[in-house]
Amino acid sequence: MPVASARTSGRRLSAIITPVRAYDLIKRKRDGGRMTGEEFRFLIRGYLAGEVPDYQMAAFLMAVFLRGLDEEETALLTEAMLHSGLILDLSGLERPKVDKHSTGGVGDKVSIVLAPLVASAGVVVPMISGRGLGHTGGTLDKLESIPGFRTEMSLDEFREALWTTGVAIMGQTEEIAPADRRLYALRDVTATVESIPLIASSIMSKKLSEGLDGLVLDVKVGSGAFMKTVEEAEALARVMVGTGNSLGVRTVAVLTDMDEPLGRMVGNSLEIKECINLLKGWAEEDLLEVTLTLGAWMLYIAEEMVSRGAPPAIDDGVLMEKRKRLEGLLSSGKALERFLDMIEAQGGDPEIAARPGLLPGAGRIRPVYSPAEGYIRRVDAEKVGVASVLLGAGRSRMEDGIDHGAGVMLNRKSGTKVARGEPLATLHYNDEGNIEEACRLVEGAFEIGPEPPGRRRLIRKVVLA
Ligand code: URA
Repeated sequence: MPVASARTSGRRLSAIITPVRAYDLIKRKRDGGRMTGEEFRFLIRGYLAGEVPDYQMAAFLMAVFLRGLDEEETALLTEAMLHSGLILDLSGLERPKVDKHSTGGVGDKVSIVLAPLVASAGVVVPMISGRGLGHTGGTLDKLESIPGFRTEMSLDEFREALWTTGVAIMGQTEEIAPADRRLYALRDVTATVESIPLIASSIMSKKLSEGLDGLVLDVKVGSGAFMKTVEEAEALARVMVGTGNSLGVRTVAVLTDMDEPLGRMVGNSLEIKECINLLKGWAEEDLLEVTLTLGAWMLYIAEEMVSRGAPPAIDDGVLMEKRKRLEGLLSSGKALERFLDMIEAQGGDPEIAARPGLLPGAGRIRPVYSPAEGYIRRVDAEKVGVASVLLGAGRSRMEDGIDHGAGVMLNRKSGTKVARGEPLATLHYNDEGNIEEACRLVEGAFEIGPEPPGRRRLIRKVVLA
């Protein structure tokens, strides 16, 4: 740092002190130093204005990847990214605004049923969601398999849908956290995605722009998730919960199992069919359990907002009462009604509920048979996810197109006893280019042994602070 003499005038002093430079910040972080909020703002603003070039930002991201950020720095980076765009003002809506976000998995269609379900309980759910990448599916891709459904909306349209329906799900726009969009693309090509502070600031900068009162995070753990162990998932959850709470949004994280796909369907229109079944009362046990658990926490947070300062005590009884309410909304058909209202408000065809055949299908199917007799001990989520991408249901690069009708249906899940030659899964596809590889992967995903597996623990942990 340059040293100014005591006789230097204020004007001259500002001319002498070297202004902050990206180079100095990269060097500081490389050497394990800390950053201030102002420095993060300088970097983010400079990057978006083209004054900090990609190569310097890439070096900074790698320094963060290797050295990390502490909790306070992560919150400061998130704040700088959040303020790179607009924050939705939903203050005119009197009801509590609570969203859910999942870190991504295979067969994870929870958002599609949970958002209208919780909205039917009187909570506003403004959900800005993402596309699938790698072996994980994306809510927007699934919804776009509904004929006419629009996930690209202006913020005014989004607000209007929230006012009329209480729920809307759309994609990120140019106005929402533009810094994240640019940084994510850069991380993707510089091997800096798998960093807890960078994942946390990326997710939270988008979520906090929704003008929320509360947020429930579904942090997936297991083979089909970003975080493979409970320890890693808990570390990510703690950073995100700390960041959300410190920025004024009541945030809770639930760690849920992603070792096996959720439900039976993996692939876009297949998953929409499974969502319709759940809303009509025919639910897969694991999918329903995760949906009700996350929904109960959303209602809990919403109630906390309403009672202002006198939150209900967190105990199983309180959460159980909320689960019962949600079950009532499912069995009365109110949640399905809200789902259809949401589809209609976003330009989609609500007839799909009565006629699921209107959804895109696959021209061909191929069963995968059990190579042995025994108990299914596990169905590896990552292998099923990769197979589904190979069949066309996902994309390897952001710009790839997808086949909404393709995917994998699991005929059997873990815990079931199977005979040799019994169908384990059915592959749905239109393009047979990768069919043999997809078959091999799905067959290999089923671990079959002489003993039944232990009970699958779907809800691993809840992180409140
Ligand atoms: N999802 C995001 O939005 N960002 C990440 O960095 C990882 C997952």
